[in-house]
Amino acid sequence: MTTATELPHWEATPEDLKAATREIKAAIRARIEASGRTVEEIWEVVTAQLTEKVEEIEAAKARGENVWPVIEYTDIEAGTVTPEQLAYLKSRGCVVIRGHFPREQALQWDQDIVDYVERNHFFEDYKGPADDFFGSVGSKPEIFPVYWSPAQMQARQSDRMANVQSFLNHLWTYESEGKQWFDPDRDSLYPDRIRRRPPGASSGGLGAHLDPGTLDLWMTEAYQQAFRHLFDGSVEAYDPWDASFRTDGPQYPGTTMCSVFRTFQGWTALSDMAHDQGVLHTVPIPEAMAYLMLRPLLDDVAEDDMCGTTVNQVFPAIEQWHPLLMRALVGIPDVQAGDSVWWHCDMIHSVAPVTDQQGWGNVMYIPAAPWCGRNARYADKVRAAFEAGESPSDFPEEHYERTWPDRFQPSQLNATGRRGLGMPPQG
Ligand SMILES: [Fe+2]
Repeated sequence: MTTATELPHWEATPEDLKAATREIKAAIRARIEASGRTVEEIWEVVTAQLTEKVEEIEAAKARGENVWPVIEYTDIEAGTVTPEQLAYLKSRGCVVIRGHFPREQALQWDQDIVDYVERNHFFEDYKGPADDFFGSVGSKPEIFPVYWSPAQMQARQSDRMANVQSFLNHLWTYESEGKQWFDPDRDSLYPDRIRRRPPGASSGGLGAHLDPGTLDLWMTEAYQQAFRHLFDGSVEAYDPWDASFRTDGPQYPGTTMCSVFRTFQGWTALSDMAHDQGVLHTVPIPEAMAYLMLRPLLDDVAEDDMCGTTVNQVFPAIEQWHPLLMRALVGIPDVQAGDSVWWHCDMIHSVAPVTDQQGWGNVMYIPAAPWCGRNARYADKVRAAFEAGESPSDFPEEHYERTWPDRFQPSQLNATGRRGLGMPPQG
């Protein structure tokens, strides 16, 4: 495509963030205007479309309906998810998979993790939170910087996990422009941590934010191509399920970065959790990204401001700039141990505060991170971390498991595990 207005781009974090912000905002505005439409006209289209969805969600909430789609794992495995269920899932961009694992299996994994960290004297050795991404109160951590327990690896390489990841990945368009952007049937086993929040815990929760990137979303060439329809006046063609140009580009480093491309973020419940006990909320509208990306271009935002988004902090979704979207924030329904929860990678999410929590709040974070250029590069680092029992490079360098003899061993990898770590099949 030839355009009258090419966008400047920065493949690494610009030295002068404010200058780059001024420059890119002016360039995107000019590019939109080259289409014959103004930014204000585009904004009208976006807000009209989103207002309709927000009102639909508000009405469903007011009727006491469950806004989150719920799909039974057995239907995924049997291929009997209906077209209506699929359409609803795509409309909301998030889902609870019921019975993803048998409840007893999940409760056993939860106990196995406790045994694993206790056997290895984790609580005696724990040095406190190494980052402030998740706050921690009290003497025991809620987020365990533990990546290589047998329980986590068994879940990551299980057929049930592979089936769900594949099902979710196929909701995306992964072939276009003569290229396959990712392999929907091969996951890269992105290792993440565990949360165990005990009964009686009080937590301030986590503010609404999104995780796919920060200023790089506007400033790198790959993201500019991925969001091309938002930046060139053809916003009606923007498709949040199109993976084109998203799976190979660079990202600006930061303490909260996720190096891989995830189609969905997710976690698997290791305890039963009631919907009012400090659980995950989302704005279940995948198209909301259009609003988030275009809002800074309006003229009530300072020229050097991206509505508060900057490097090294999560992308905030806030009442001041995103009031329409915040009206649609909605929590998950009650879940049981063994259910899993998934949300589109661009989706606004938060964790509600809780006081004197009833029951446990235990999850293991396992997303869908299908094989692609970016994820293959990170898999090299993951494999090295796995072999050494180290913290993966996206996370603080805590390395508690280096000396733990009973961490998951390479000999225990199955075919899915080996493929996910970029290792050759066992010969
Ligand atoms: Fe997040």
